[in-house]
Amino acid sequence: MPPSSKLPVAILGATGAVGQRFVQLLANHPWFEIAVLTGSERSIGKPYAEVTRWILNEPIPPAIGTMIVQPTSDVADVPLAFGALPTENALEAEPQWAKGGVFVCSNASAFRMDPLVPLLIPEVNPQHLAILERQQRERGWPGAIVTNPNCATITVVMALKPLHDAFGVERMFVTTLQAVSGAGYPGVASLDIMDNIIPNIGNGGEEDKIETEPLKLLGQIGDEAFQNAKIAISAQVTRVPVLDGHTAAVSLGLANKASPEEAAACMSEFRAPQIVRNLPSAPTQPIVVRAEADRPQPRRDRDLFGGMGTTVGRVRPCNLHDLKFVVLSHNTIRGAAGGAILNAELLVAEGRVG
Ligand SMILES: NC(=O)c1ccc[n+]([C@@H]2O[C@H](COP(=O)([O-])OP(=O)(O)OC[C@H]3O[C@@H](n4cnc5c(N)ncnc54)[C@H](OP(=O)(O)O)[C@@H]3O)[C@@H](O)[C@H]2O)c1
Repeated sequence: MPPSSKLPVAILGATGAVGQRFVQLLANHPWFEIAVLTGSERSIGKPYAEVTRWILNEPIPPAIGTMIVQPTSDVADVPLAFGALPTENALEAEPQWAKGGVFVCSNASAFRMDPLVPLLIPEVNPQHLAILERQQRERGWPGAIVTNPNCATITVVMALKPLHDAFGVERMFVTTLQAVSGAGYPGVASLDIMDNIIPNIGNGGEEDKIETEPLKLLGQIGDEAFQNAKIAISAQVTRVPVLDGHTAAVSLGLANKASPEEAAACMSEFRAPQIVRNLPSAPTQPIVVRAEADRPQPRRDRDLFGGMGTTVGRVRPCNLHDLKFVVLSHNTIRGAAGGAILNAELLVAEGRVG
């Protein structure tokens, strides 16, 4: 299952908030080796350390800091690329790389809802990778594009998956409390976010993503096409003065009623398929349910299992729907770079890359 030697990989948009997480998580990865870093005109031709406003606590790995940033338009001779580009740049660059024979694991929203592109969380819908044969055939690409969901969508869908399978989720009302790192760097101005909460992200776009992406993720694939799950979702998003870690307050209507105890057990007992559990970046268990009345909290729970774990708490009855709870995960690890790396590991484990 592991590759016989480390696979060279590219990071597209390596200097940004998510690009830096890729650098950090890939620097000592057992299967992948960073071979190419790309950026915009601003950075091309310069050493990575010189052009990157590094925002992580650990220093830039020395061997990476001296690498020269390459143009995103030059497709490299690598089997895998990780995408951390703004959506408008991903729209142009990712198909070029797929056409050049590269499997692109993207964070951008550009192709998430494309009917030929898997929107993947390995613990949730690994079977959706079956669309890749049709994608490659119809687009004429020797490579491919695989996307991971919006960072708040991932947080919510991790908890929804076991509940939907066991009890049938029919309705969801969700309010998110999203960290500032989700806006990239420099992101939200300090004068806007300090001592404050902003009740909008992306001018409604973030709410659209949380209302639509779960339907694809929890949907079925048959005859090489996706059928969306039928769940009515209403989302409200907020940006809060937290550095990392998106929190969501969720209320669910279920087809088959479940007590809070049954729902909590269902989420803690949830396990990924065996092939996913053995991947290097897989969390020890997908969801940890906390019994304390004041958890989850971003500062205390976001780093669970190296930032790949999801924490649920406050599972209780809801007066409007059936159940409510709070769920949290790390937005730039589980919700972005770490999620995309797990996607790439699954591509390798399934023998699609390498
Ligand atoms: N932050 C999160 O929590 C999060 C979570 C999930 C998904 N995402 C998605 O991930 C992507 C990256 O987000 P981010 O927060 O890392 O953004 P960011 O901090 O603004 O970084 C953007 C990156 O793209 C590069 N870039 C900008 N314009 C470019 C161009 N014209 N050509 C080539 N490269 C260009 C930048 O390079 P230079 O520095 O050289 O200009 C930088 O490396 C976005 O699509 C975002 O929606 C973010």
